[in-house]
Amino acid sequence: MSAFEPTIVAFFCNWCTYTAADLAGTSRLSYPPNIKIIRVMCTGMVDPKFVIKALLEGADGVLISGCNPGDCHYINGNYKARRRVKLLKDILPQFGFESERLRLTWIGASDGIKFAEVMCDMTDQIKALGPSEAKLKMVI
Ligand code: FES
Repeated sequence: MSAFEPTIVAFFCNWCTYTAADLAGTSRLSYPPNIKIIRVMCTGMVDPKFVIKALLEGADGVLISGCNPGDCHYINGNYKARRRVKLLKDILPQFGFESERLRLTWIGASDGIKFAEVMCDMTDQIKALGPSEAKLKMVI
């Protein structure tokens, strides 16, 4: 019997978290390989449909991460993302997903250590939740 290895779709802002991922890599920090990164120019461009589609198509979790408050390169994209995530967390249970499958974080470009910590923590959290209902239905 194999242990559950979640698939986590991650939308990372080009300017901060994606750069932090690069830094974590060049600093040889280890983090789980469960994170599938999609680079976006700003978390404000992550359409709620992207999140729901990822979950419906088999992702066990979705992580959105961008610039710290006040640092968004497009002024307020990260605040827009925060409002969207709040709404998404309210409606995800209606699609059969626990709201904990979605997380929003801020990770600055110079914070490779925080990046690795968040990736480990998110992976542990999704492992504890188990496979998503959509994934189980796909297997059956
Ligand atoms: S540019 Fe990074 S969150 Fe907007």
